[in-house]
Amino acid sequence: MNVLQEKLMELRRKAFENVESAEDLKNLQDLRVRFLGKKGPITEILKGMGKLSKEERPVIGQLANDVRNAIGNIIDTKKAELEQKLLEKELENEKIDVTLPGRKIRTGSHHLLASVIREVEDLFIGLGFSVAEGPEVEEDYYNFEALNLPKDHPARDMQDSFYITDEILMRTHTSPMQARTLEAHKGKGPVKIICPGKVYRRDTDDATHSHQFMQIEGLCVDKHIRLSDLKGVLTVFAKHIFGEDREIRLRPSFFPFTEPSVEMDISCFRCGGHGCAVCKGTGWIEILGAGMVHPNVLRMSGFDPSVYTGFAFGMGPERIAMLKYGIEDIRHFYTDDIRFLNQFRRA
Ligand code: PHE
Repeated sequence: MNVLQEKLMELRRKAFENVESAEDLKNLQDLRVRFLGKKGPITEILKGMGKLSKEERPVIGQLANDVRNAIGNIIDTKKAELEQKLLEKELENEKIDVTLPGRKIRTGSHHLLASVIREVEDLFIGLGFSVAEGPEVEEDYYNFEALNLPKDHPARDMQDSFYITDEILMRTHTSPMQARTLEAHKGKGPVKIICPGKVYRRDTDDATHSHQFMQIEGLCVDKHIRLSDLKGVLTVFAKHIFGEDREIRLRPSFFPFTEPSVEMDISCFRCGGHGCAVCKGTGWIEILGAGMVHPNVLRMSGFDPSVYTGFAFGMGPERIAMLKYGIEDIRHFYTDDIRFLNQFRRA
């Protein structure tokens, strides 16, 4: 063996050894350049072929090509091996353990008051009412005057209402929507709406008072609407919300915007009317105020009271929820304690 042959065999041995222990693709590529590159030793030898003797040339040429091919092959084989390992590692890393418990997604739910309001809305929509909403910042005219509340009515006192200017205040009830709706419908026939919304009064917050609370107003104006229609609708309402066995009774009351005015009680859903703590021993629970729309209210909003009559009612969803679910403090509705709210999640 001459020197070149020995050199080639040594190159082959070294290359095999290095390739064998190559750890990554970068490593391997470096080896390819080092042994087979344009400036590598084998290229060098092939380039120098011209200087060899006639006899040597084919022998060395053959051997150099063989060595080059052998090194190329082993690098290719090693490359495939490393790539396969890399892929396996990636697959291992990306493996999804389908037996792991899922991450819990916390979903929101309706606030209890929203649920009560929806329940009432759904009932009245079923009875042919539509839902209307009005401004919380209201004109004195709609809040009081158009509702037949005289100028000296105590509710108009600065002490009782949040005034913004002399003529504008936070509405103290949802009844201004009676006047607004009638006014918008004058000359267009019957009106049947309910109006849920926030109202404001200058009360000091305690277990039964809140300076801001909700009301749901109802208004039905048409020809031939009578007190018995009001009683029928309220009976359906009471049974729907508080149970089929409920009875209602109407007691005379006073509101400037209804005549006659009534307060509606339901038979106690706890004791069935015998008397208990919920109904304070009376067997009856006061639920809402109502009455026949006052002729002055109809007239002021453009309805002829000799042709049209109607009824109206106003209820407090907080009170309904408190009674129904035994909630003892109205402030729970507004302090956003998630532990309280979570008790009323609907499935
Ligand atoms: N607006 C009255 C209140 O806030 C309730 C009511 C509404 C009474 C409609 C009669 C008719 O107390």
